Amino acid sequence: MSDRKLADRLREAVARREAAGRFDWDRMARSTQRLPVGNWRNWLILAGRGWGKTLTGAQTCRIWAREFPYIALVGATIEDARDIMVEGPSGILSVCPNHERPAYYPAKHSLEWPNGCKMSVFTASEPERLRGKQFCKLWADELASWPYLRETWDQCAFGLRLGKNPQSVITTTPKPLNLLRSLLHNRTTYVTRGSTYENRDNLAEQFFSEIINRFEGTRLGKQELNAEILSDNPGALWTLAGIEADRVMKVPDLERVVVAIDPSGTSTEASDECGIVVAGRDGQRKPHFYVLADLSLRGSPETWARKAILAYHAHGADRVIAEGNFGGDMVESVLRNIDANVSFKKVTASRGKLIRAEPVAALYEQHRVHHVGVFEALEEQMVNYVPGSPGSPDRMDAAVWAVSGLMEDGNPFFGWLQRWKSDKDKGEAEAMEEIAPGVTLGAPQTLIAPGTITVNSPRTDHMGNPISAAEAARRGGIVSTQTPAPVPFRFEDPHGVLSRPAARR
Ligand SMILES: Nc1ncnc2c1ncn2[C@@H]1O[C@H](COP(=O)(O)OP(=O)(O)OP(=O)(O)O)[C@@H](O)[C@H]1O
Ligand SMILES: [Mg+2]
Repeated sequence: MSDRKLADRLREAVARREAAGRFDWDRMARSTQRLPVGNWRNWLILAGRGWGKTLTGAQTCRIWAREFPYIALVGATIEDARDIMVEGPSGILSVCPNHERPAYYPAKHSLEWPNGCKMSVFTASEPERLRGKQFCKLWADELASWPYLRETWDQCAFGLRLGKNPQSVITTTPKPLNLLRSLLHNRTTYVTRGSTYENRDNLAEQFFSEIINRFEGTRLGKQELNAEILSDNPGALWTLAGIEADRVMKVPDLERVVVAIDPSGTSTEASDECGIVVAGRDGQRKPHFYVLADLSLRGSPETWARKAILAYHAHGADRVIAEGNFGGDMVESVLRNIDANVSFKKVTASRGKLIRAEPVAALYEQHRVHHVGVFEALEEQMVNYVPGSPGSPDRMDAAVWAVSGLMEDGNPFFGWLQRWKSDKDKGEAEAMEEIAPGVTLGAPQTLIAPGTITVNSPRTDHMGNPISAAEAARRGGIVSTQTPAPVPFRFEDPHGVLSRPAARR
């Protein structure tokens, strides 16, 4: 055999050996990635980005598949389950050598192994699909990003009941969620924690430097790189636990829906994102607000305007509202270029971010704002925004515009109330809010001070169209069906708060 042929054969043999080594989990796995022994129900792997969570989950399933007939895989969405857990570079199909690899049936959401083991793929966006299913083992990937976290986890827990030792492996970068905290403190949980740095040798240089540049030294970096569960940011207006507690799956009937835009002017990579948030208000006397979608994007004015108009029609919205400080007329003309008939209102940020965000945060505290599903990027901005800090959280701004727009839109009295609320006397404001929510009243007309205020209250709907007294009463107003409009509305103002000159407020 010639030297050249011999060299080729040697190269092939080395390549074969390396390829076989790729599947040799016993040899490859770091000690923290190995299936723990002992008596546990949930193996909770809280680790930083790129630690090898998905690979560990997939390899654990491969081990389980040798012995157990029914295994469930649960991802955040169907795309995540398919593209990451099953078909991804660290997913199940990639970690198995040919002779061991299962057949994947995407339409049936299942994987069938040569030995007969059956794996079913579920997602946290459809928790009801888990209902009534049973399995011996379960792999949950990126649990902290699951849209219907509580419902899905409950269904997983019900279904995990076959065999003598039902177990789950949960692989996730953590977030300050109550469910994670309770799993962490559960005596049947085996916890593994790890940081991105541990897997540096196996990460592409570019991925590593990008992720490090982005997060190192930041508060969020403690979570994303070191997998610490952050306590709530003390200065922030929102907490994730608060948002989590009021999250809902279904939207009730909504009285009014708006699309709010916090526009960006340019479309370069470095330019700000354009915040686009859709929210709605129900018809209760003390209305509740629902964040329906976060469609924020980085792109040219035409791109974000198109997105906003699509959302306007898709959600049957009543109005598009946009921050007008930054080229407000431009915003309107870009929107009208796409849809000349769009109902548009320009709002002006004259009172500063904090004053604008505070009443909205107060509504969250009262459990009156609900996120319909998970809006990861938006919620990240909300829980990390500390008033006074530099930077421009555009999604958060758009959400604040949307909710405050719904508070004020078609309800000018409410808007006026909020301005008054920001003037220190909260006690007075609360008393007032008891009277005002849901009532459509005209702007204050006459100030008689100190002592009393008279407000004319023509009966109008939220678009300003006249409505009957009966309709006003149905909407929870305080207008009596016997009383002809306009109704003088009186209340006490013992401290003379309302009579202060506007400039001093
Ligand atoms: N023990 C290991 N030996 C060799 N390569 C590994 C090991 N652990 C992880 N890797 C590799 O590191 C890379 C990242 O792994 P993986 O995708 O599983 O990480 P992850 O924690 O799920 O990342 P993300 O946070 O993006 O979801 C993959 O290329 C994977 O093959
Ligand atoms: Mg992963």
